[in-house]
Amino acid sequence: MQNIWQNNFRITVVGLGYVGLPLAIALARKFSVTGFDADQQRVSELRSGEDRTGEVSSAELVGSRIEFVGDLKLAAPSDLFVIAVPTPIDGDCRPDLSALQSASHAVGRNLNPGNVVVYESTVYPGATEEVCAPILEAESGLLCGEEFFLGYSPERVNPGDREHTVDKVIKVVAGQTLKVTELLASIYSAVIPAGVYQATDIRTAEAAKVIENAQRDINIAFINEVSMIFRRLGLDTDSVLAAARTKWNFLDFRPGLVGGHCIGVDPYYLAHVAKKTNFDPEIILAGRRINDGMAAYVAGEMDRLLRASSRVLVLGLTFKENVSDLRNSQVVDLVKAIAIKGHHVEIFDPIASPDDVQALYGLTLKPSMEATEPYDAIIGAVAHDPFRSIAPKILDSLVKPEGLLVDLKGIWPDLSSTDRCRVWRL
Ligand SMILES: NC(=O)c1ccc[n+]([C@@H]2O[C@H](COP(=O)([O-])OP(=O)(O)OC[C@H]3O[C@@H](n4cnc5c(N)ncnc54)[C@H](O)[C@@H]3O)[C@@H](O)[C@H]2O)c1
Repeated sequence: MQNIWQNNFRITVVGLGYVGLPLAIALARKFSVTGFDADQQRVSELRSGEDRTGEVSSAELVGSRIEFVGDLKLAAPSDLFVIAVPTPIDGDCRPDLSALQSASHAVGRNLNPGNVVVYESTVYPGATEEVCAPILEAESGLLCGEEFFLGYSPERVNPGDREHTVDKVIKVVAGQTLKVTELLASIYSAVIPAGVYQATDIRTAEAAKVIENAQRDINIAFINEVSMIFRRLGLDTDSVLAAARTKWNFLDFRPGLVGGHCIGVDPYYLAHVAKKTNFDPEIILAGRRINDGMAAYVAGEMDRLLRASSRVLVLGLTFKENVSDLRNSQVVDLVKAIAIKGHHVEIFDPIASPDDVQALYGLTLKPSMEATEPYDAIIGAVAHDPFRSIAPKILDSLVKPEGLLVDLKGIWPDLSSTDRCRVWRL
């Protein structure tokens, strides 16, 4: 293994999305970095200083010394490979490791003796050693653990979150040997002032990551479930939570739609590995069922309150606030569920790309919130900053007298039902 402080120590980051790009930028502050992405358009955008995820500014991109390549063969030989490609689920909610496998093939073909390959993608415990290592060995002809080494360092960034950026969150690292763990600890701690935590081994680090997100999913599912119970009891969930939160150890979760490619996906990775050991993961899958059913639940409740063929305006379509990422957005399910009930739905999202919305879901975004006549219902579905700052007068003008204002994300906390319109919350 190379001395990391030698001038020619080079790191290649594979997969330059929400996780890989900010990490590559951070690593490039101290090391020589190549960034490889299989999406050629992404590579040319990054070369021209554009990050469409909005995580990295143009100035940072242009100012970084990263060499962006669309073909790993064109990259300078590396000492360390960091893999941050997507790990989604397939149509049957099973782990889809195809990007991870294909990235491992590409890296394997470029491996040299002494190299270290660190995976950052979220996986189930065992995936790095059982799925990726054999591919690296087969492609490189090198022996894992002797001629090259594995590492795992889960990513904890939170898209759109300017507070918990990659350098401000403790990084868990684990290597195949103690020497590799220490090497990774030195590399990551050089660029992450928050520091590193050395996990016992790779499987422990993989398990830690996957339970972080599964725990969040389950906690939100619990609050979603109690919000459905409270509705039947005629209780206001916000008021109940405000009271309960005064206890020091009450966990502060809110009801809502769970989308995206982490919280709603990672529990299935944990369930998958549990089932492989013949264990039936009850809570994990119950959480998924509840959260996956929330769009249909909200649509059903709204339908009961609306007259037939109502006009509905949905504010926000992305999977979370202040990000443009539309993948696995539960709001899309909500739009479809409302439309199936015979209502006419229009969508406004100032952050989502209209072309992406059309390409991914065949839906059309309104160019502005303006309407020729007020709507029967407005749904605040995503808490983008511009929606939080809508003046109450504007909201009022958008909805018909006795219309419905649905706030799914606590966007307008001060709003309450008046004679003029009804407010509905989870
Ligand atoms: N986004 C998050 O908030 C977050 C947080 C923590 C962990 N993670 C995990 O990190 C991993 C990456 O997630 P992301 O959000 O950055 O994904 P992403 O979709 O934003 O980016 C992945 C990038 O990898 C590229 N890619 C796909 N296959 C490739 C291949 N074979 N070779 C090279 N490049 C390839 C894609 O073109 C894309 O640019 C996932 O496992 C995810 O679960 C994500």
